[in-house]
Parts: sequence; structure tokens; C-alpha cells
Amino acid sequence: MLVSRIRQLVRSVRETPIVQLSHPHLNLFAKLEYCNMSHSIKDRSALWILLRAIERGEIDPETTVVESSSGNFAVALAVYSRLLGLRFVPVVDPVISPLYEATLRCLCPRVEKVSEADDCGGYLKARLSVVQTLRRQLPRVFWPNQYQNTDAWMGHFDLTGKEIAEQLQRLHFLFVAVSTGGTLAGLSRRLKERFPGLTVVAVDVEGSVIFGGPPRRRTIPGIGSSIVPGLLKEALVDDVVIVTEEESIACCKRLLHEHHLFAGGSTGSVFAAIERRFAGHRGGRPDVLFLCADRGSAYFHNVYGDLWSAERRDA
Ligand SMILES: Cc1ncc(COP(=O)(O)O)c(C=O)c1O
Repeated sequence: MLVSRIRQLVRSVRETPIVQLSHPHLNLFAKLEYCNMSHSIKDRSALWILLRAIERGEIDPETTVVESSSGNFAVALAVYSRLLGLRFVPVVDPVISPLYEATLRCLCPRVEKVSEADDCGGYLKARLSVVQTLRRQLPRVFWPNQYQNTDAWMGHFDLTGKEIAEQLQRLHFLFVAVSTGGTLAGLSRRLKERFPGLTVVAVDVEGSVIFGGPPRRRTIPGIGSSIVPGLLKEALVDDVVIVTEEESIACCKRLLHEHHLFAGGSTGSVFAAIERRFAGHRGGRPDVLFLCADRGSAYFHNVYGDLWSAERRDA
């Protein structure tokens, strides 16, 4: 019953659109992952992880799903758990957007919120410690473990990557924001098969330790990590660009005003990386793709906080 229900959900996944943005030197394309049912890039990995776990018999109707997530993965798991009739306990932290926290509290009877930052200034270690406690306390728990679960990147390989491979005829550059590395691993593997000359650029923010930088407090969720994720070793990466949170915020506002895309912080980071990588670029017009990983509406409090007042001053 659970198996047929989740297979039906996988079959009903709709393609997310790819739109072209005007750019002086690039054929620049954005894939709108916020058009997924649970409104983010994490929709596909959550669905695929649940599919595989149900098929392997690791989840049955009595199982409680427990996961640490700063927002999008938790929302995706909450939506699909609800549709499958499963209990889900998200473990979140104070960086979560108020919108996502309200969404999770509507969808899940129990939400665990940690308050103490770890020695890296982030909350990941504190969240993982609560997950371990719940695994000991609750009778039947499935922990997706998004930082280690290879089904996460397989979801992007089989769903998101396959879709892009069918949607585009040519692709020279792919820019991907990194947190668990699942999107990067799945897309880089699938799309390097389809477009052999493809250059894959991983994008991270200052303060994240993923590519070896020193840890520092970060305020934009969805990109970066205070640990090096295990899935990173599965990714095929040609280049890495590290941007600042200030650049990410400025580029979110440029995407909004210049391209009418209202996207979240990681999308601004990726757009900043593209602008930096191609600054001064002349010559041919390469085909460049990035993902709009989620919507801007979850980022009023940090990224878009002064947007409307700034506009009023200008008026
Ligand atoms: C908004 C947003 N962008 C990018 C990512 C990075 O995706 P991944 O965890 O696959 O590296 C996430 C992951 O949570 C996210 O929420």
C-alpha cells in the first residue's frame, strides 16, 4: 500500500520550467526548482529517499521519520510524510525562516528546536545530537540522514538531472549551491554524461567549512555547512567559487529587480558566483545553467528585510 502510494507520487512529479534570462555575454538559464510541489530543490531528494526506504522495508505505517534540517528538506519531508500518512518530527534551529517554522508546526504535531550553537557557530551538531536522542527514545524511527544518504544524490540523478538532460540541447557551465552536496553529486554525474564538455562549478559561502575555509557564523540557510558532507566525494567538480553573504543578498535583489525572479539566499549566491566567474568575459556566449532552489518569501527577515523600505525611500 505504502509502496504503491509513493510510486504514484514519484510518477506524478511535474517538470520544473527552465527560463532564459537576458545577459550581455551569456546564454543564461534558470531552472525554477521552487515550482516543485513542496516549493524547493529538496522536493526530489526527499521523495527519492522515502521511496527507496519504503521499497527496502525500512519504513512502514508505524514508522516515525526524524530529520535535522534548516528548512527546505524538513518542509519536503513534512509534505510527503503527510501525504503518505507517516509521522514526521523535524529538528530545526533558530536560523530557520519564520515562514518554514509556521509551515512545519501546521504539518507536524511535534517540532524539536535547538537553541545552543556548536563550536563552529552553527547548529548542525546540536541538531544531530537531538536526532540521536529521538532515535533512542522513539520505538520505530527512520532517519533519512541527508548528509550521508546516497539516495539523496540518486534522486537528483534520476529526477532533476534526467529532466535537465531532456530539456536542454547544449550546456557548457552548471553552477550549483552546496550544503549536503546531494544536488551537486546527482547533477554533476548525470549532466557530465549528457554534455561531455560540461564545467561544473560548486558554489559556497564564506564561513562554511565544506571546501576548507575557516568556520564563521552564517545567517543565510540552505547553503554552506559546519561539517564536510559525505556526499561531496560523489560529486564531479571542476571549480569552486566562494562568495560572501553580502554578495548573495545583493544578487538576490538584482535577480528580483532585473530578472523578476524572487528567489532564496542560495540562488543569490549562485548568481553572484556566475557574475564573478564571467566578469570581463568576452567572446563566445556559453550556455550557463543555475537552479532557483527556493522562493524569496522565506527570506524576508534576512535577505529582503530592507527591500520595501528602500523602495519607499526611492519613491
Ligand atoms: C535553498 C537551498 N539551496 C541549496 C541547497 C543545497 O542543496 P544540497 O543539500 O543538495 O547541497 C539547499 C539544501 O538544503 C537549499 O535548501
